[in-house]
Amino acid sequence: MSRPRHVFALDLGTTKVCCAVADIEAAGLRVLGVGEAVSRGVRKGAIIEIDRAAEAVAEAVDLAEKMAGIAIDSAVVGLAGGHISSQNSRGVVAVGAGRREVGPQDVGRAIDAARAISVPSDRRILHVLPQQFTVDGQDGVRDAVGMAGSRLEVDAHIVTGAQTAIQNVVKVVHKAGLDVDDLVLQVLASAEAVVSEDELERGVIVVDIGGGTTDVAVFSRGSIAHTAVLPVGGNHVTGDLAVGLRCDIDTAEVVKRSFGHCLQLTLPADAEVTLTPMGYDEPVNVPQRYLAEIIGPRAREIAQLVAAQIEMAGPASHFAAGVVLTGGGALLRGFPEMVQTVTDLPARVAAPQGLSGMNDEIQGPDHATVVGLMRWAARWQGGKPARRLSAPDGGKVELRGRIQTRPRVADPVGQRFGRWLRQLF
Ligand SMILES: Nc1ncnc2c1ncn2[C@@H]1O[C@H](COP(=O)(O)OP(=O)(O)OP(=O)(O)O)[C@@H](O)[C@H]1O
Ligand SMILES: [Mg+2]
Repeated sequence: MSRPRHVFALDLGTTKVCCAVADIEAAGLRVLGVGEAVSRGVRKGAIIEIDRAAEAVAEAVDLAEKMAGIAIDSAVVGLAGGHISSQNSRGVVAVGAGRREVGPQDVGRAIDAARAISVPSDRRILHVLPQQFTVDGQDGVRDAVGMAGSRLEVDAHIVTGAQTAIQNVVKVVHKAGLDVDDLVLQVLASAEAVVSEDELERGVIVVDIGGGTTDVAVFSRGSIAHTAVLPVGGNHVTGDLAVGLRCDIDTAEVVKRSFGHCLQLTLPADAEVTLTPMGYDEPVNVPQRYLAEIIGPRAREIAQLVAAQIEMAGPASHFAAGVVLTGGGALLRGFPEMVQTVTDLPARVAAPQGLSGMNDEIQGPDHATVVGLMRWAARWQGGKPARRLSAPDGGKVELRGRIQTRPRVADPVGQRFGRWLRQLF
């Protein structure tokens, strides 16, 4: 019997750092260990203090190692932050001379051509995600390999990030004693964990509301159409409450989680919370509707920012599966209804599926990213793929200062994309 393969993931969030390790099994991922630490040195998804962030990573990794009884020397790491941006690009190539049939190497060359956009020297391409192929003028082709033709075009979605911000994440991980197997846009990982094949096909918007950022990925006809990282998240709701209630952040956080709601009128008029604002000697009763009055405008702002991203990606009719909300911020009561009203699309809150083992701690929406990162790792370490949402970096991206002590599974570009195509469609 072959030895089970392990996958390691690290989600470096604004509020928490989570490390998880799992075995790849036929039925899905069997979680072996999870470690979590309060995040330090991260603001709005970006590193602001390397040493403190590295401490938090080391703490989370240590806990995961202890639970799993396995040494973790590298991980697939999630990436977010306001420095992320995306654009669409097109690559065109002639099908290899002497052949009249598209081969995997032609697809690889077309993707390389799409990749050859001019990116400023201070930015780096993170992902090149094929959307559709066109063979001799016939567009909408999902798997071009094997098709007859002489001209191959690919439409691709390209995600880029600031070199320095990316290098800081790598530095933090190295400082914590780990290598980076791969860097993955956090929302793509979250999408892996929470949306079904059917939803991807019908068109869906995945929104991961974290502490510092709200990350959006729009999928249309089975492929990625648009991605964005918005610099506002659940911590802004807490901050608003702290100001409005004149209390500290910790109290505001507890009040938000226990009594917070986005919609005033759904709450009974007499429901109250008792707390002692700063400068008061005696506790006061605050109507829960007043909390909603504070929370509502911020929740609406987030929903409106998401709606603007959806509009950029295409008409509502392209997204029949609606909006899937995940991340800890999605637990805010009344938020799905708010999103539904603002976007005019159905909205649901989703948590990661298909886990077994020691998965109690990572069952909620706030752990979608770490679960998706493990799925990503499972696919690219030669495991049985759970699902295919996007392409890898083609093995071409180099991280300055990256030390790879653990060899990655050899997988030539052509083969990787060939496999990607079969899995995506
Ligand atoms: N039950 C709850 N009700 C409302 N909000 C909640 C609840 N649980 C968590 N949150 C909020 O979710 C946010 C944290 O979400 P999450 O753990 O997904 O963030 P993160 O991954 O650390 O951050 P980011 O993705 O922005 O880097 C916090 O703002 C927290 O207040
Ligand atoms: Mg997150």
